[in-house]
Amino acid sequence: MKLFLDTADINEIRTVARWGVLDGVTTNPTLFARTSGMTYDEVLAEICTITSGPVSAEVIAEDVDGMLKEGRHFARIADNIVVKVPMSETGLEAISRFAADGIRTNCTLIFSANQGLLAAKAGASLLSPFVGRLDDINEDGMIVIRELADIIRFHEYDSEVLAASVRHPRHVTDAALAGAHVATLPYKVFQQMVHHPLTDKGIAQFRKDWEAAREALAAKRPSGSAKKGRAKS
Ligand code: G3P
Repeated sequence: MKLFLDTADINEIRTVARWGVLDGVTTNPTLFARTSGMTYDEVLAEICTITSGPVSAEVIAEDVDGMLKEGRHFARIADNIVVKVPMSETGLEAISRFAADGIRTNCTLIFSANQGLLAAKAGASLLSPFVGRLDDINEDGMIVIRELADIIRFHEYDSEVLAASVRHPRHVTDAALAGAHVATLPYKVFQQMVHHPLTDKGIAQFRKDWEAAREALAAKRPSGSAKKGRAKS
């Protein structure tokens, strides 16, 4: 399963890339609005120097010509740009036109398996159901992931299901088990996945026991020999 970072924050992207677990990045206007000092183009160009995985850049236009203009502009920034297009009638038309031009797309704001099926038929590379926002309105976002992943596999579409609007680590596990090809996570969820109270407690205990052992050894042996003992072990 691929894991993308859902952010436009360069420092967060650099950090997760250093961990060796970053497969791509998704951005949107809301995430861009949280950054400062750079244009959207500059942010996208910088992100594409950090990861060679897909980097989603979202169009703002709601008409086909506008979407095509913005998307083609984004696609010129770097080879790994994927144009993010909202699910709509004009969005589907734009997705099919981009597909004909060989430009990859991520169909965003998907809330049903049927919307995902339409986006797959139009030629979207990535299909993004918003799990958290469905959960927010008392629906089960994971059902859409499971249904859409089954449809894509059963009918052998080239598209990949990307679990978006991920709010916590359990969403990641459930999306993986439901067959999502990708999940895009906020930086905080990546951090939450790294940590477990027993892991953190275990690290602290090992450190404490190590220090105690060294002190006990230093008390028994002449100065310097405790260090030597560690090198041998
Ligand atoms: O990937 C889409 C994501 O940015 C939306 O997340 O938490 O605003 O629903 P959220």
